[in-house]
Amino acid sequence: MEKSESGSRCCVVTGAAGFVGSHLCERLLALGYIVVGVDNFFSGRRENLLSFAAHPRFFFHERSVTESRLLHELYGAHGPFETVFHLAAIVSVPYSMDHPEETLEVNYGATVRLLNEAEKLGVRSFVFAGSAAEYGTQDRMPLRETDAGSWTRWLSPYGEAKYRATTAVASTRSPLRGVSLRCFNIYGPRQDPSSPYSGVISRFVDMAVAGRPLTIFGDGFQTRDFVFVDDVVEAYCRAGISEKADDSGSGGIYNVGSGRPTSILDLARLICRLTRRPESITFCSERPGDIRHSRASIEAIARGLGWRPRIALEEGLTKTIQWMHGEAQSLGAKDFPDGDLSEKK
Ligand code: UD1
Repeated sequence: MEKSESGSRCCVVTGAAGFVGSHLCERLLALGYIVVGVDNFFSGRRENLLSFAAHPRFFFHERSVTESRLLHELYGAHGPFETVFHLAAIVSVPYSMDHPEETLEVNYGATVRLLNEAEKLGVRSFVFAGSAAEYGTQDRMPLRETDAGSWTRWLSPYGEAKYRATTAVASTRSPLRGVSLRCFNIYGPRQDPSSPYSGVISRFVDMAVAGRPLTIFGDGFQTRDFVFVDDVVEAYCRAGISEKADDSGSGGIYNVGSGRPTSILDLARLICRLTRRPESITFCSERPGDIRHSRASIEAIARGLGWRPRIALEEGLTKTIQWMHGEAQSLGAKDFPDGDLSEKK
């Protein structure tokens, strides 16, 4: 994406203080965009905003995506926007199990309302954070975009709400362009390792950097499709900014993954090697409800958006490990101003 092409056009990013949202804001600012970030810090973190909060083209609103007329009010404050990147969501699958209605309201209901607002405001593109969880349980690999449907057995309200929202986003009509990115297992700097349900890479790197044994749930032969956060951000940018017509036949829904399976045992060994730790791995019982394998077909996104992953697992892990080392060293030294930063304009 060329910076010179973008001028100073404006984008909205919901979930701006999240793991992926914060990286996306940084990239859009680097491309020359005005970025209006929204987050209510339900799971986003203030420290994720630190590196760009003071940027002259970044405006932040501590708001919830469930507020009616949110986009209209942002439009009133900042003028027209070209693209809405909607990443804010209840992101915890276990939380969605305990709060199914709230999950449906935030992850589906709010998305539909934002879509309607975007349509009325003449927004050009609406890019939604879909999820591999939309596929539920499947035996056939790799997973293609057409493998999720009303027949799917979702494992959580999270997966079902994301599926419903993706369906709504993909059925928007011209001139609004709706795109849903079904991301597989994203990893990289700023992913929070602190919960037992945090992404496995953030947990393993955290354990390795702290010199603790890595804990595998089950036999370690289960596989996942890991994709580095910078590659995911590139997919968002292409989906939101690309002028190219979609000729992939996937109806505006794209998987975002590496297309490669990695076993959890191989992952643990690789992280031990890259952190120069002895191979200290313990095995515990399998996590209830875990799927065995997950792997994306990435043909549609290659055809439709010309995207392919560029960061190999070893390179992405090295960057993640370097970041986690930095975090471990600076723990406790963080400071961030509270409140709404939108005054800057
Ligand atoms: C994803 C969700 C998870 C949800 C599950 C249900 C994320 C980060 N996780 O899990 O919340 O319950 O879908 O569909 O979105 N593992 C270990 N040791 C660890 C952590 C994980 O062995 O310390 C294993 C897990 O058992 C799993 C694999 O690593 O087999 C990947 O786990 P995770 O990163 O949580 O991703 P998903 O299984 O895709």
